[in-house]
Amino acid sequence: MGKGSGFGKTILFGEHFVVYGLPAMASAIGDFTEAIVEIEEGKGYELSDNRPEVPGYKKKKFDEQKISIKNVLTFMGVDLDKEKLKITLGGNLTCASGVGASAASCVALARAISDEFQMGWDDTRINESAYEGEKGYHGTPSGIDNTASTFGGLVYFVKNLHGGPNTMETIKLSKPVDMVIASSGMTANTSVVVADVREKKEENPKWFEEIVKEYKSVVKDGRHALEMMDLEKVGKLMNKNHELLQKITVSNEKLDKMVKIATDAGALGAKVTGTGRGGNINALTPGADLQDKVYNALKDAGFAAWKTKIGV
Ligand code: MEV
Repeated sequence: MGKGSGFGKTILFGEHFVVYGLPAMASAIGDFTEAIVEIEEGKGYELSDNRPEVPGYKKKKFDEQKISIKNVLTFMGVDLDKEKLKITLGGNLTCASGVGASAASCVALARAISDEFQMGWDDTRINESAYEGEKGYHGTPSGIDNTASTFGGLVYFVKNLHGGPNTMETIKLSKPVDMVIASSGMTANTSVVVADVREKKEENPKWFEEIVKEYKSVVKDGRHALEMMDLEKVGKLMNKNHELLQKITVSNEKLDKMVKIATDAGALGAKVTGTGRGGNINALTPGADLQDKVYNALKDAGFAAWKTKIGV
C-alpha cells in the first residue's frame, strides 16, 4: 500500500496575473488531501473519492479528474494495461474551487504512486508529476498551485514562459498568520475562466497593460510587507488586488458581498482567491479574536468558512 498527501493552498497575490509570467504569492494551508494506492489483480483503476466537498464539486470535476489521473500515471510510467490500481482519496481538505483541491489531489496521488512502486521520487519530480495532472483540470496551469501544494509554506512564484524552470522562493514569516477562507458554494471551471480572461486581454491589450502596471506594484509591495510583517499593509494590498480581480471580471456579486462581510467584520484585507467567478475568498485575520469574528460573520451570513494559517 502506498500513501501520499498534498496541501491545500490559498493565493495571496496574483491569480490570473501569474499565467502571464507575473510574480504571485501563495501559501499552503494546513488542510491536506491524502491518497492511498494499492496494486490489485487486473487492469485499469478503481477510484474511491472520500474527500469532503462543497456540494456538487466532485461531480462537476469528475471528467477532468479522469484526465488528470491518467496524466499523472502516464508521466510516472504506470501502465494500466498491465496494472490495476485501487486509488482512495481522503484527507481533511474540503474540495472547492480556489483552495487548490485539484493540485492537492495530484500531489497526493503522485506521492502515493511513488511510494507503492518504490520509485523514491523527490519533491521536484512529484511537483512535475502533479503539474501534468493539473493540466487535466486547467489546460494551461501556471504551476503555482502544485508548487505550493508540494513544497508547503509561503511561496513567491514566477512562471517561466519560455518553458524552463519556474522561479520559486520560499518566504519565511516571523510567525504564521491567521486567515479565514470562505466558499461561495459555486464551483468554477478554471480553464474556462482563464481562457475568457485571456480573450479579454487579447481584445484590449492596453486596458490589460494598465491593470498589470498596478498589479506589479501590488505584488512588489505585498512581498515586502509580508517580509516586514506589516500586516495592515498586506491587508490593504489584498483589497487592492481584489479590485484588480474585479476589473478583469473574475469576481461577482456574491464574492464581492463576502469580501465586504469579511472587511466589515474587521479583516485587514480580503479578496477572491484562485480562479474566481465562484470558489473562495480569503481574509487576513491575525489573532484568534479577529479570526473568530470574521469566521462567525461569514458563517452567520450562510457561507461555509474555515479558519487556517499561512506561512506555517
Ligand atoms: C488557480 O488557482 C490560479 C489561476 O491563476 C490559474 C493558474 O495559475 O494556473 C487562475
